[in-house]
Amino acid sequence: MVFELWEDHEQVVHVRDDTVGLRAIIAIHSTALGPSLGGTRFRPYDNERDALVDVMRLSRAMSYKAACAGLPLGGGKAVIIGDPATDKSDELFAAYGKAIDSLSGRYVTACDVGTYPADMAAIKTRTPWATGSPVEQGGSGDSGILTAWGVFVGLRKAAEFRWGSNDLSDARVAVQGLGKVGGRVVEHLLEAGASVVVADVDAARVAAAAEHPDVEAIGVDEILFADVDILSPNALGAVLSADTIPAIKAKVVCGGANNQLAMDEDAKLLADHDILYAPDYVANAGGIINIFGELEPGGWNEEVAHRRTDAIADTLQEVFDLATSEGVTTEEAAERIAEERMAVRSGPDRWWHAGREDARA
Ligand code: NAI
Repeated sequence: MVFELWEDHEQVVHVRDDTVGLRAIIAIHSTALGPSLGGTRFRPYDNERDALVDVMRLSRAMSYKAACAGLPLGGGKAVIIGDPATDKSDELFAAYGKAIDSLSGRYVTACDVGTYPADMAAIKTRTPWATGSPVEQGGSGDSGILTAWGVFVGLRKAAEFRWGSNDLSDARVAVQGLGKVGGRVVEHLLEAGASVVVADVDAARVAAAAEHPDVEAIGVDEILFADVDILSPNALGAVLSADTIPAIKAKVVCGGANNQLAMDEDAKLLADHDILYAPDYVANAGGIINIFGELEPGGWNEEVAHRRTDAIADTLQEVFDLATSEGVTTEEAAERIAEERMAVRSGPDRWWHAGREDARA
């Protein structure tokens, strides 16, 4: 019964420490290519089942993301059940860090929704298996910077595949969400000469973006259906669904938001509506590529991380070509590429422990 629920996960760990109010679940989907890496989400889930379903869905996506990005990493994710506004404490993160440490590097954590670099620093007091601290403290800094760059690189590649040119100067692009990723995607698009339509629930962010003459602001309920060439979702998951897809006018979708498809079948629906979809975990891999640098012997190097993020264009080309030649959706093509890579174990443990033991010393 429990194993059925786990589906294809290698290990799922429930962590409880009543003295500090900690209830967490760490899900390791795969370590076939290396130690599992994925952020810790801190959320007041309605119940434990919702938390378990969320963490397993997210950890599987991390395996595919790392494999498609060509990184020697597996997929994992963790959730802490609680309200990030009221339930955080150094003691809670220390207890959580102890739990991570007990996995001896099979799971490495990072920031996610509800967790920030300061929280990673608190976790790091008990384990070396935490990333995402500021550059000044030897970390890789804000992963949103390279995530946004990777999304932009992906947008150009998708435009090239769709229309034969990656020149975006005549393109009109709708950007949903103006946060760490979406805000920077807008900047890259404007630099490339595109005109941009934006929406965010945060009115101040919209007002700041709309100061640019090539930016038009529209309502949050309209952005998905704007009359544009390209749609870039950079806010929420599940925005591409049977309800929304028939009304989407864009012919390319490429954004940074995780889990954009509401259901697996929605990939087929997009194709049926002649919309080219850049799978989210391929397009938004800039963040994990950035973090990976922290784990390498020698540490994070901005230039190397940037170069690796540029390669998202090559991965997308591979995905689009495979989808075309096999007559499958782009989502299915990306899954096949990831699963093929995961099927070949590359013996990463030795490499991994060599790097981290240095860090512990
Ligand atoms: P963020 O929290 O900085 O920005 C999200 C933005 O979306 C905020 O400005 C928020 O006001 C806006 N938003 C929320 N609900 C909205 C709605 N209904 N309509 C329009 N806007 C709405 O988050 P960040 O880091 O920019 O992440 C954006 C997406 O990219 C998320 O789905 C995240 O999981 C994903 N992602 C982020 C990575 C990173 O390195 N930051 C890496 C990979 C994926």
